[in-house]
Amino acid sequence: MGSVLAVVSQKGGVGKTTTAVNLAAAFARRGLKTLIVDVDPQGAVRYGVGLRRDHSIYGFADYLSGECALRDVILPTALPWLRVILAGTVSDESDHLAYQSLVAESDLLPELLETARQRCHIVVVDTPPGLGPITHKVLLASQHVVVPLQCEPLALQTTPQILRGIQSVVEVNEQLILDGLILTMYEPGNPASERVVEYVRQHLPANIVFRQLVPRSIAAADAFAAGQPVVTRTPSDPAAQAYVNIATSLVERMDG
Ligand SMILES: Nc1ncnc2c1ncn2[C@@H]1O[C@H](COP(=O)(O)OP(=O)(O)O)[C@@H](O)[C@H]1O
Ligand SMILES: [Mg+2]
Repeated sequence: MGSVLAVVSQKGGVGKTTTAVNLAAAFARRGLKTLIVDVDPQGAVRYGVGLRRDHSIYGFADYLSGECALRDVILPTALPWLRVILAGTVSDESDHLAYQSLVAESDLLPELLETARQRCHIVVVDTPPGLGPITHKVLLASQHVVVPLQCEPLALQTTPQILRGIQSVVEVNEQLILDGLILTMYEPGNPASERVVEYVRQHLPANIVFRQLVPRSIAAADAFAAGQPVVTRTPSDPAAQAYVNIATSLVERMDG
């Protein structure tokens, strides 16, 4: 039986999707059968996961609404052990309310995640920002959660909220383990960036913060623009290596 790993954050733009696709790619590169599921109606996974040309535009939302069968929304990627379920056509719509209530009201999401973990080693879920009904539902069906935190001052204000939110889910879903905060887009030498790292290390227990920082890098931004995980596009890049190291410690915990 595999594990569901949720990637959640209070804020948007903190590197959630980058983290989800790169951890998923790093797992797959180790030969672990991995599925990444995008339940964020913004649907950004499709821009970064390394899809094949002429891929289907359908995804989770279309399965949820009954438009598509599950097997038709599981897409291959450039990596043999990585498959993806995109958000689907909802990401081209301006209004996501109908999608949100459908996710909240139905049991298809937890059922999908449960089935997927029976067939895969790791199921990575990219979520919308905040702890709204969609993310809540994902956490109820997850065994692991990581929280990207961008190394910029505002990040600190929102951290208590997301930690409290996760704690309230743990009270209901005892399987859920907070593997930790991942400090992203770290800029060595930038005082604002250094202050965030220092503050987090001083104020949060060491076991809920990954020691490995993810640096901001040009290769990481370029990879996203080129539609690929930096882990596969530029493996020697420091951000790519950081994600590989974090994936390694996650695998050790999941299997250990
Ligand atoms: N380590 C990094 N180095 C450089 N740019 C990054 C890095 N991580 C994320 N980014 C960029 O920051 C922006 C927001 O990242 P994204 O993963 O989309 O965040 P979220 O999913 O939280 O909204 C994207 O343009 C992405 O390419
Ligand atoms: Mg995103």
